[in-house]
Amino acid sequence: MEKVVATINKLQDVFDTIEDRTKSIQLPEIVVVGSQSAGKSSVMEGLVKKDFLPRGTGIVTRRPLLIRLTNVPLNDPLRKKDKLNLIGNIGDGDWATFKHLGDKIFTDFLEVRQEIEAETDRVTGKRKGISNDPISLNIYSANVVNLSLTDLPGITKVPVGDQPLDIEKQIREIIHKYIDNPNSLILAVTPANTDFATSESLCLAREVDPNGERTICVLTKLDIMDPGTDANQVLMGKIIKVKLGIIGVKNRSQADIIADKSVEKCIEEEELFLQNNYPDLADIHGIPYLADTLSKLLISHIHKCLPDLKLKIAKLLIRNQNKLATLGEPIIDKNTTILQVISRFTKAYTASLDGNCKDLASNELT
Ligand code: GDP
Ligand code: NA
Ligand code: MG
Repeated sequence: MEKVVATINKLQDVFDTIEDRTKSIQLPEIVVVGSQSAGKSSVMEGLVKKDFLPRGTGIVTRRPLLIRLTNVPLNDPLRKKDKLNLIGNIGDGDWATFKHLGDKIFTDFLEVRQEIEAETDRVTGKRKGISNDPISLNIYSANVVNLSLTDLPGITKVPVGDQPLDIEKQIREIIHKYIDNPNSLILAVTPANTDFATSESLCLAREVDPNGERTICVLTKLDIMDPGTDANQVLMGKIIKVKLGIIGVKNRSQADIIADKSVEKCIEEEELFLQNNYPDLADIHGIPYLADTLSKLLISHIHKCLPDLKLKIAKLLIRNQNKLATLGEPIIDKNTTILQVISRFTKAYTASLDGNCKDLASNELT
């Protein structure tokens, strides 16, 4: 299953070098939406199992952040010093790179967070301005599934600092740029301590995905609901039904952040919390279950997009061949590379059809 996603990522890399991704092939990626401070960045962090995103109260995420997670097994030759051209050896550790910094390698995720903050300020200023210009971050680890995630500014209504009067409209436009992509999976984040029936994120998702084919709901802040209330009705889909599911989570709280509690520790505590408070539902909620569901959804989504993807690839190929023909030059390396990647992709995909996708079909959420 993960092989297919890895190949998709490679395919995306190839197309990114040829054409603006918005104009060429649109591959599935996971986009996180919701109101400000709903817990979007915290959910991302839990999925990545790393403390690296700026987050907190108020508008912290002010530029789209495109995160690509790549699984690099511990025995992968890429980890060797000479391959990475590192000062030290990467060993079993994780590392990150930014598009705007080229080959520079980060092994300290505190520095990753500082770089995101600095790069956000560089474009938007320090006074809470926003920008639609994305930051691209690559994370390599033995402990992640291969996923592309987009963290977005939250919906907010009242401008603060340098924010324009039409801040809400501008943020909605930024969000739309990503969720309009029919090949994106929308993670609609809603805090459990607000009225689920009026969820901003689900409203937005419905605008672009009225049939709920690519929206999954994440209910955050299960731990800080009003005393005497619980999320059972919402989690069981009795308030609003979400076709692909509603998954409840307990992220790191601000107090956990201040106490410098690790993401791993918080995930352990989340499991305990679920066992204690939602014993009947604990198995199908929480961050680890969300991660698992997401990779399954991604594969099934790719599966559905495949015929269209193939058509687009064929067209792109013909167009490039024609372009080259008019130049009177022989077909050169770029096309060969695409062909190789496509053929590798087809092989991996076919293999997955024989194996994992069959399981997937039976597991698919309805
Ligand atoms: P974003 O604006 O949607 O990206 O939200 P953040 O991830 O930055 O979170 C906003 C604040 O809510 C932070 O202080 C988080 O620690 C806190 N928070 C997020 N999720 C939870 C949760 O499930 N439980 C608790 N107690 N706090 C949370
Ligand atoms: Na926030
Ligand atoms: Mg955020």
